[in-house]
Amino acid sequence: MTFRSRAWFDGDDEVAMSHRVALRLDDADRGKPVVGIADTASALNPCNIGFARLIPEIERGIRDAGGVPARFPVMSLGEDLMKPSAMLYRNLVAIELEETVRANPLDGVVYLANCDKSVPASIMAAVTTNLPSLLLLGGARAAPLFDGKPLGTGTDLWRALDERRAGRMDDAQWRALERTLSCAGPGACNTMGTASTMAILTEVVGMSLPGTAGLSAVGDELTVTAYRTGVAVTEAVLADERPASRLTQVSLDNAIRALAAVAGSTNAVIHLAAIAGRLGLEAGLARMDALWRDIDLLADVEPSGAGLIHDFRRDGGVPALAAAMGDQFDTTALAGDGRAWSEITASAPAPTGVIHSRTSPVATGPTLAAVFGSLAPTGAVIKTAAASPGLLTHTGRALVFDDYADMRERLDDESLVVTAEDVIVVRTCGPVGVPGMPEWGMAPIPRRLVEQGVTDMVRISDGRMSGTSFGTVVLHVSPESAVGGPLALVHDGDPIELDVPSRRLSLLVGEDELARRRADWRPAPTRHLRGWPRLYAERVLQAPDGCDLDFLAAPLPETRPFIEP
Ligand code: FES
Ligand code: MG
Repeated sequence: MTFRSRAWFDGDDEVAMSHRVALRLDDADRGKPVVGIADTASALNPCNIGFARLIPEIERGIRDAGGVPARFPVMSLGEDLMKPSAMLYRNLVAIELEETVRANPLDGVVYLANCDKSVPASIMAAVTTNLPSLLLLGGARAAPLFDGKPLGTGTDLWRALDERRAGRMDDAQWRALERTLSCAGPGACNTMGTASTMAILTEVVGMSLPGTAGLSAVGDELTVTAYRTGVAVTEAVLADERPASRLTQVSLDNAIRALAAVAGSTNAVIHLAAIAGRLGLEAGLARMDALWRDIDLLADVEPSGAGLIHDFRRDGGVPALAAAMGDQFDTTALAGDGRAWSEITASAPAPTGVIHSRTSPVATGPTLAAVFGSLAPTGAVIKTAAASPGLLTHTGRALVFDDYADMRERLDDESLVVTAEDVIVVRTCGPVGVPGMPEWGMAPIPRRLVEQGVTDMVRISDGRMSGTSFGTVVLHVSPESAVGGPLALVHDGDPIELDVPSRRLSLLVGEDELARRRADWRPAPTRHLRGWPRLYAERVLQAPDGCDLDFLAAPLPETRPFIEP
């Protein structure tokens, strides 16, 4: 077997010699494959910081399987601290990974990813470079008790915020909540947020070892998984097994269905479209909606259910879920260890605890839906499982906020005229508009209405929302307002009709009036004149196409393999 790295190391000349010296290869290492470890541990990212302890285990696995490990640092995408959104940098990290892999003598890669966007960035790079590789997910953070109940990351904070705004949570309780959250330790959000969702989907498409999504970030099982991942990637290099052979349309469709079965984060809709775009596979909104239609909710995990991701893993994790999905999961697809899923589901535990069977689902689906219409010509997404059933068919008057700052400023204003039947519209939240499409879609309920006991309203935006969020929130409206989508033309008081059963989202304003407004519309001058945000805003695709940059989603030239040295 000739490895890619031998183009750097073989030979007796001064160039090959300096390459061997640079990687500190001794004689015993010569001829062995070099396996990179893309390290995203960072003090700026509590979700990924735990990788530091796992790297020696991965290195040991690579060595034991006959490879040479080479750790390299990668920009770390943490949701908590990065502004305006870690999503702005997903494509940048994908580029960084691709180019680091391409430029260096690597034969395979272990990608360390955990917090939301680090996962799709790694998969996008892995399928583009198509070197033998797997992701190692960093596991979920603990769930310390608050008021006697395990704290679900994100979801329980949003609930507490509503309590506080309604005057039912005092300062002491609010501070106690912060102290409790600080005790959760490292790891990803423990609810069905984007990180848990992407960990599950990564496993489904064979880009991580089976049975590993939802592990505890601090447990021994993750240490063992780190070792096994190092071994598995090195063995994949020796067998020349590449991601493209596992990430096929069949496995992508499994991921689209599994996303619905766990009522996962709407962010995953965008990430799956981006991954599909890299591979020339199909993951358009219409296809996803069709695949979601007959999927019921099988995972009882917050925010759509009651448990946490630890419970999901304890009750059998993805293998149990895949088995419970039955003929809705095509088990001819390959898992991350190279076995067919049929082999794994054959020995998976029966549905129990938070994983339900199809005969007694947590809730009837569909859990997600794509809507189209005059307000969203190329589509929008709603997590119906986390919405109020009574609002899924609703017509109300628009209450328009021009951007996030406008919403924050006026939402709790005593003079704001608003009723629970109104439809809150927040625009300028899209991929071009901010840029980076922040998670601003779940606008809070106006304080006055919260005090009256209102817990949900229809909210519509061209932004995203955290997977830990909930409510009747229509997201990813496309085309976005910043590029002149119909959302830009909505005025206060316009009737908007949401009809999820018919998959429609309509702005009930006459065509003549809309044409007049469109003629008057001017794009806002860009505030991003240089650097990455400028490149991003100029080249980013809209949400239904995955928000990749247009030149990254393009097919690779046939003539020159991307990773040719
Ligand atoms: Fe990092 Fe949720 S904030 S996983
Ligand atoms: Mg999140």
